[in-house]
Amino acid sequence: MEMHSRSVLSNQLGPHHNLLKIVSKHRDSVFAKPYAAHSQAAFRQAHQWLQERGDRALIFDSCCGVGQSSRQLARAHPECSVIGVDKSEHRIQREVGEVPDNLLLLRADLNDFYRLAAEAQWRLHKHFILYPNPWPKSAHLGRRWHGAPVFPSMVDLGGVIELRTNWSLYAQEFKLALSCYNVDAELTPLTTEEPMTPFEAKYQRSGQSLWRLIADVSATHREEPHTGYNRD
Ligand SMILES: C[S@@+](CC[C@H](N)C(=O)[O-])C[C@H]1O[C@@H](n2cnc3c(N)ncnc32)[C@H](O)[C@@H]1O
Repeated sequence: MEMHSRSVLSNQLGPHHNLLKIVSKHRDSVFAKPYAAHSQAAFRQAHQWLQERGDRALIFDSCCGVGQSSRQLARAHPECSVIGVDKSEHRIQREVGEVPDNLLLLRADLNDFYRLAAEAQWRLHKHFILYPNPWPKSAHLGRRWHGAPVFPSMVDLGGVIELRTNWSLYAQEFKLALSCYNVDAELTPLTTEEPMTPFEAKYQRSGQSLWRLIADVSATHREEPHTGYNRD
């Protein structure tokens, strides 16, 4: 990874003009794309791991990269189970320190994993989404998590979401997207001393402003026809 980075450049001057329309459309429809086999295998592994660990609060570290933050979360919350997910095998397998017993690092596509977990009615205690890829071009709204068809499953999973980003517009849009679910989010500048992730460290070194969004989506209820997860 490069030592320094430039701020996010976008052709958008404010929240995407179609944001609320797209978020509402996804909220009211079913995302039926078939699951990738490797995501299903990762989900089965996670399901079994959680069953073996018994009934503990669950923390997700989504887009965890090399899992530095996942390790930190697992050490800070020994009473919880922590699952870190990233689609990059290369990143997830990087040796960046011991993996605590209460942490499972998995390679999976979250577009699948979120749906599988929501359909299995997992409920999260906390959900970290630290520095997701910004996809800053206006045409790429659908690749940002809040503009993606899987967003309803992210909300269904519940818990307290903590999103961090170096692009304030990403966080603003995420907050607006949550308003479609009647969820209020707190958005503040991030003033942290110790970086939680390699990307956070890189942005800090580059003098970039960072943002933190906190939202409790536990109480969200949504009528949605689920397709059901087949464990066979
Ligand atoms: C900018 S990096 C941030 C990594 C880490 N959170 C950090 O702050 O150092 C974004 C990460 O999201 C992961 N990612 C992007 N799309 C994903 C998806 N659909 N499923 C799982 N991981 C994904 C990438 O592989 C990458 O590691």
